[in-house]
Amino acid sequence: MIDHATFIHQHTELLAVPLVPEIRLHLAHEAVPIWQKTEEELGKLGLPPPFWAFAWAGGQALARYVLDHPQIVAGKTVLDLASGSGLVGIAAMKAGARSVLAADIDAFALAAIAINAAANGCHLTTTGEDLLNVARQDFEVILVGDLFYEQTTAARCLAFLESSRGEILIGDPGRSYLPKQRLQEVATYAVPVSRDLEDSEIKKTSVWRIAPACQRWPSAPIVASQLVPSEPFVPDLRSAGEAGAQRTDCAAQHAGAKRQPATGPTAPAARTREFVTFRQ
Ligand SMILES: C[S@@+](CC[C@H](N)C(=O)[O-])C[C@H]1O[C@@H](n2cnc3c(N)ncnc32)[C@H](O)[C@@H]1O
Repeated sequence: MIDHATFIHQHTELLAVPLVPEIRLHLAHEAVPIWQKTEEELGKLGLPPPFWAFAWAGGQALARYVLDHPQIVAGKTVLDLASGSGLVGIAAMKAGARSVLAADIDAFALAAIAINAAANGCHLTTTGEDLLNVARQDFEVILVGDLFYEQTTAARCLAFLESSRGEILIGDPGRSYLPKQRLQEVATYAVPVSRDLEDSEIKKTSVWRIAPACQRWPSAPIVASQLVPSEPFVPDLRSAGEAGAQRTDCAAQHAGAKRQPATGPTAPAARTREFVTFRQ
């Protein structure tokens, strides 16, 4: 049986991340073939989707924000929660973080994080422990890229973040279970993404912080059943045909926004071989 690191080297290419070209990651071009290959070569069925082989919109926006605002992490201890490829943690190290713990429950992701960190000349400590069970008071900054696509995990993550200490930033394009009513938008980007994964080539994606308790609505803790798919804003992205990222201010986003009916993400466990799509 092939080991994870060898598999990653054989089935990915070292590519610049579109919104964060100063970082290169081992990335796949298409989702389903690498997922099938993983199961074939490891001789196991029912493996989680290869999230680690892509730079998700939320992670790209958050990495860009961290690199452009290095003071947020410089000299600090950072948790990159749901690290995937390691993109956000690598950005934090490049921005001067004292240390980064990259957490992901997928063993492939842990191998990818180590390989990608080395490719970018940095080192991240990794853990495969599910940290969402206990609030963390030992990180000065917690970064979360694209983890609000599944209802139960989203609720657990929100509870974890609201009870943790430190600066908390979330990168998310408005996935179905993003608790927008508990968050404040701090920056927005038009992120180039793969049409194979999303339903477009540009995804409007924001960096959010947890709103102060007094501004949250509702004020009671959110449980999973309350996190119903939201009606996301689909922006009128005038820049959609342009390459690269465009920052927009909040007023402009909302002026140009159109409402569309929500559609939920495809169930991660679907045996249809459809990759998890985050279309909304
Ligand atoms: C959509 S990917 C985002 C990866 C990366 N942050 C990015 O934006 O490119 C979501 C990641 O969350 C991980 N994940 C899911 N539940 C988790 C949990 N409870 N703790 C840590 N990671 C988790 C998955 O394994 C996957 O790698």
